[in-house]
Amino acid sequence: MSEEKIIRIDMETTTDHAHVGNDKPILCLGIESSCDETSAAVVDSDKNILGHIIYSQIPEHQKYGGVVPELAARAHILAVDEVIKLALERANKTIDDIDVIAATAGPGLIGGVLIGWMTATGIANATNKPLVAVNHLEGHALVPRLKSSSATDSATNIDVEFPYLLMLASGGHCQILLVHGVGKYEMIGQTLDDSAGEAFDKIAKMLGLGYPGGPIVDSRAKLGNPKRFNFPRPLCDKPGCDFSFSGIKTAARMLLDKTSQDEIDENFINDFCASFQQAIVDCITNRLTNALKDDRVKNAKPKTMVVAGGVAKNSAIRSAMEMLANKNNMLFAAPPMNLCTDNGAMIAWAGIENYKQGNIVHEPVAPRPRWPLTEL
Ligand code: KG4
Ligand code: ZN
Repeated sequence: MSEEKIIRIDMETTTDHAHVGNDKPILCLGIESSCDETSAAVVDSDKNILGHIIYSQIPEHQKYGGVVPELAARAHILAVDEVIKLALERANKTIDDIDVIAATAGPGLIGGVLIGWMTATGIANATNKPLVAVNHLEGHALVPRLKSSSATDSATNIDVEFPYLLMLASGGHCQILLVHGVGKYEMIGQTLDDSAGEAFDKIAKMLGLGYPGGPIVDSRAKLGNPKRFNFPRPLCDKPGCDFSFSGIKTAARMLLDKTSQDEIDENFINDFCASFQQAIVDCITNRLTNALKDDRVKNAKPKTMVVAGGVAKNSAIRSAMEMLANKNNMLFAAPPMNLCTDNGAMIAWAGIENYKQGNIVHEPVAPRPRWPLTEL
């Protein structure tokens, strides 16, 4: 694929972290291909993102209203080499400068994961460099530690230390975890049906707003009245930290079915999005409030409450969690917006954190479509 054909986003690079000490920083090339983004990044152990390219396939899937796995796999094959080449160029490095290669080995759409993982395996074998098999969810979970010292948003400029309480909300997952360390995750709660991202995507689809739904619903919600429609808050009257979003989706469907077409104007859509988003925000704060009362969390005494995953881009969720953290005398941390949705920098960073623990691959690893964090 030629460079012009790549719909490319040159992500901001950050080179503001000075190196302390005599030992050279570790340089990692990270590759992500588990869903609809082909991405590569060069990141160093001083937390600098030297080169970062994300090729988003969203325009290719938009007309189908969601990711088509076979199309995604083909697009990854066409893009992956060029994306890696551009990330290295952008970082002003060659493959010889790289100390460690990392790639997503699951969970995700298996066609895409295979392409990124096999590419990384090939590069590591050809160059005789260590290889890290990164769990995509661990990429999301650890990236808040790759803080940007130049960030203007205070949540992205926190030194996130273990243990921390993590709300991991993406298109495929919705979990509350205690992060004790690299590879050490304790599940506090999880969704019994849809993920929060899926709920956003499905609501947007119902309203004919396009794909992916999260960012569209988020911006519509800013213009609407969150009190106009009373969507359910499933499980919120029950103890525990699990989520359920399918009831909100059904209520939304029923509301749309009983509303006549001419009532569905811009105001209706904005109020619908705002009311739906408020229900999601309330579920998240309710479940996190219960998590803070959970004995496992109380014993671990996490200092920081963290949100990560694509849904962490949502401004209402970020501010509700920040308020909850402050109320409980905790710090609040979130990745910068460009590191919430899938990206290569989070995989490179998780690669560095794992490499430092000696977690490298010694024999062939088969990529996994399912790979819970609790199985690391
Ligand atoms: O983490 P991610 O890029 O992919 C997975 O690993 O699944 O998350 C994608 C999800 C999509 O469901 C998308 O709609 C959602 O993140 N998302 C948002 C926002 N931006 C992306 N959800 C709510 N508000 C947003 N601003
Ligand atoms: Zn993801």
